[in-house]
Amino acid sequence: MSSRLDDARPEAGAAGTPGLRPAIHFTARDTWLNDPNGLVYHDGLYHLFYQNNPFGNVWGNMSWGHATSTDLLHWTELPVAIPCDEVEDIFSGSIVVDHGNTSGFGTENDPALVAIYTSAFKPGSEHSGTQAQSLAYSTDSGKSWRKYEGNPVLTRGTAHFRDPKVFRYEGPAGDWWVMAVVGAQDRQVLFYRSFDLKSWELLSDFGPANADALEWECPDLFPLAVDGDPANIKWVLIVSINPGAIAGGSGSQYFVGDFDGTTFTPDPSSLVDMSGGTAGEGSLAQALRSCLWLDWGRDCYASVSFSNVPDGRRIIIGWMNNWDYANELPTAPWRSSMTLAREVRLTAVNGSARLVQQPVLAELAAGEELPAAKDQMNADTFELRNAALRLPDAVPGSAQIIEAEILPGSADRFDFRLFGSSDGSKGTILSYNTTSAQLILDRRQSGNTCFHGKFASVESAPVDLENGVLKLLIVVDHCSVEVFIQGGKVVLTDLIFPEPENTENWLSAEGGPATILKLAVSTLT
Ligand code: FRU
Repeated sequence: MSSRLDDARPEAGAAGTPGLRPAIHFTARDTWLNDPNGLVYHDGLYHLFYQNNPFGNVWGNMSWGHATSTDLLHWTELPVAIPCDEVEDIFSGSIVVDHGNTSGFGTENDPALVAIYTSAFKPGSEHSGTQAQSLAYSTDSGKSWRKYEGNPVLTRGTAHFRDPKVFRYEGPAGDWWVMAVVGAQDRQVLFYRSFDLKSWELLSDFGPANADALEWECPDLFPLAVDGDPANIKWVLIVSINPGAIAGGSGSQYFVGDFDGTTFTPDPSSLVDMSGGTAGEGSLAQALRSCLWLDWGRDCYASVSFSNVPDGRRIIIGWMNNWDYANELPTAPWRSSMTLAREVRLTAVNGSARLVQQPVLAELAAGEELPAAKDQMNADTFELRNAALRLPDAVPGSAQIIEAEILPGSADRFDFRLFGSSDGSKGTILSYNTTSAQLILDRRQSGNTCFHGKFASVESAPVDLENGVLKLLIVVDHCSVEVFIQGGKVVLTDLIFPEPENTENWLSAEGGPATILKLAVSTLT
């Protein structure tokens, strides 16, 4: 997080930036948001709680905002769920459905939703200066929340202890609640156990490991079957780090390993030697690129997963921003949005289990119900030679989904230019370079970049062709580009702030013809 800036809500009547408001990403109506909190599916609704400043559009007065959705694309903002008060800010955390009524807050037939959040105690509090874990519960499906009178339920009497993610562990050893929570400046995830959500015992810790950072934040730990095989369960530990991420500033790394109810043991293939050896900085940079990154872009942070989703599906949402410049994004009256909801799976890549992510809309689009998706283009196989190909323009008010399968052949690189100007000087350039096997996103000419010195940037991710083919799913939504590469094995998310008149999209190949096996463009509102 960055420094506190209170009460900067834009004046009523200010024109704002409606042209930058995303169509299918959650933004608060007229306030600030950061991390997703308490993601839970309950009674047919997906609940998104989030770090919110109810009084302004910069970070401060941290409270839990609340929105719900039936399709994970369109959200309804509800009143603030857990507001800050004179003694505490309400920092990040999670929600569980207490099915067994272990807490006694609900009943066995009508289980309570229990929020486990970090109390960031203020000077007026007897716990002033510390961060500790507290409970609030709801017995009306998340509409109203009551704080537990025994708060905080877990304290170390320290300042940087936060972001509890609680889940139910059920394994050979038994079943209990597990909390993954960070000692932020120790760069550690601590694991605790409870039988009633109220008293917690320390089990183990993990970290520091892999990318170096000032702080670890917002951990999540969950099991997944590798390639759907129930006999091969691996555990994924997501850790958000700030600063020190691959694209600069804040970002998230993950580890794959085992969890026995007590201890997380990373697979050796998840761990990277960060010592740099004798080769110095070059090999350190290489080591950083060998860490497992949830996202290779600048703007995906604090991703955590929903609890209680049916059918064992694991769906995550992240905050689409970067602490480097978060408070200065040029939007009003709101500031910041969430990423798309992404379903995560594990698949074996060269013998090691690795995450793949797919936006939930892709799954819907491939299946049934997506009434609002409109085809703009659907091309059969053709050769792309030297002339650039004009794609359908971006449509104000809609997100655009571009699906491409490209056989580069003898082309050295090909470029998508998104939100381009007609003179060709402006646009967000998404390229694949066949020689370096890198996917590159260049937002230096994407539009408004001057609001912060760290915003104009170029990101890159290593991407191998598969059977000679590159598969891309690109979702652009007014002020963001999310790229899911090779079926989601690599993901890259960046914000952009294009001028409203720049709506042209182009595709070009350089150095030789490329074969376009599939090119489909559709809009979604
Ligand atoms: C991460 C974070 C959390 C903290 C929250 C405060 O972005 O810094 O560690 O709980 O934001 O808003």
